[in-house]
Amino acid sequence: MTTTYLTTKELQEKRQKYVPRGVSNSNVNIADYASGATITDIDGNKWIDFAGAIGVLNVGHTHPKVTEAVKKQVDRFLHPGFNVMMYEGYIQLAEKLCHVAPGNFDKQAILFNSGAEAVENAVKVSRRYTNRQAVVSFTRGFHGRTNLTMGMTSKVKPYKLGFGPFAPEIYQAPFPHMYEKTDQLSEETFIDEKIEEFKDFFVSIVSPETVACVVMEPIQGEGGFIIPPKRFVQFVSDFCKEHGIVFIADEIQTGIGRTGRLFAMDHFDVVPDLMTVSKSLAAGLPLSAVVGRKDILDVAGPGELGGTFAGNPVACAAALSVFDIVEEENLLDKSEMLGQKIEKKLHELAGSHECIGDIRRLGAMVAVELVTDRNSKKPNKEKTAEITKYANQHGLLLLSAGLKGNVIRFLAPLVITDDELQKGLDIIEKAFQ
Ligand SMILES: Cc1ncc(COP(=O)(O)O)c(C=O)c1O
Repeated sequence: MTTTYLTTKELQEKRQKYVPRGVSNSNVNIADYASGATITDIDGNKWIDFAGAIGVLNVGHTHPKVTEAVKKQVDRFLHPGFNVMMYEGYIQLAEKLCHVAPGNFDKQAILFNSGAEAVENAVKVSRRYTNRQAVVSFTRGFHGRTNLTMGMTSKVKPYKLGFGPFAPEIYQAPFPHMYEKTDQLSEETFIDEKIEEFKDFFVSIVSPETVACVVMEPIQGEGGFIIPPKRFVQFVSDFCKEHGIVFIADEIQTGIGRTGRLFAMDHFDVVPDLMTVSKSLAAGLPLSAVVGRKDILDVAGPGELGGTFAGNPVACAAALSVFDIVEEENLLDKSEMLGQKIEKKLHELAGSHECIGDIRRLGAMVAVELVTDRNSKKPNKEKTAEITKYANQHGLLLLSAGLKGNVIRFLAPLVITDDELQKGLDIIEKAFQ
């Protein structure tokens, strides 16, 4: 039974009239209720969710534990404002984040609302701590839509064009994409070259002693699920240590079990100084965090950090239940198993579809890159758009990604059932056909 008062058509018309085009909609139906990995729209149609609100729903829609924790908190209070009167949820969550974040050093955690806000604040404390100004992010990277994070983001259209000027002292270092390696080069030589390019960047573009922080997504999300070689990530981390630069891992899309580990940096055996977390942290409620070295985070004085709604108690309650669910339901193992199943299906499809150029995966962070042909590796944006469009008209929420828009990415809830997964994969198969 629907709980809205207007029809889909009426709501679509009002949306066109009252909501700016700037917010894109990959699916134009109207959600009514959702559970696990299925959303039901107000006309009763069921949608398998392979998008999870862009990586927000690792524990699935309306997980009973999250709902219970949220309801309990709503009955107690909504928001005293942590900087006005403290509450337990914020402190408990900060402790939890410090325990689960990598690193055997004293840690602290501070909460915010959005991913971009967490990145902004990680940069802010790094600048104060190092007394330096420059910020290094990477080509193909995405860090948000505020002025600073737009500047740190790579893709010009649709994220930056016409929205400048951007904050000064932001530099983008080259990020390796193994798929760009030619057959003539060995993997090791390719990685050596990328490390040399990274070193050169600090000679020709910005000097390391002026750099406050390097901000890196362990796997680039919006950039197309680009998995860097371990040796490259380790080199970047060592380089930062050598030059007194704060190394920040942006785990906003990769965190909370998406890659089969709680945080993706674990795959690279690298411990960042600071980490930004958001998206799946609070199962759909707005919450983000910066967690990491206490000596860095504690550098700002009272009142220099925070925000009116930062660390909202309802979101904190949801986040604490998320960590319980990840453990109790073994979601890290499930993540790996889910990824394997999706990858297997994609390899089957690659047998009959020449447009599949590359399939990559870490845990359940799976992507398929589409090309016009496998030799040229030329990006096939049109095909990617056709497939995601078909899916979004035939019962599957599916997202694209990539600098060239030619990657299909999978961000299904880790609690997805075999039946839901099968239905979703069947739709993808039809879409490819
Ligand atoms: C890696 C990464 N950093 C930052 C952000 C920005 O997060 P938000 O949209 O919550 O500001 C995103 C969002 O997609 C992201 O994937």
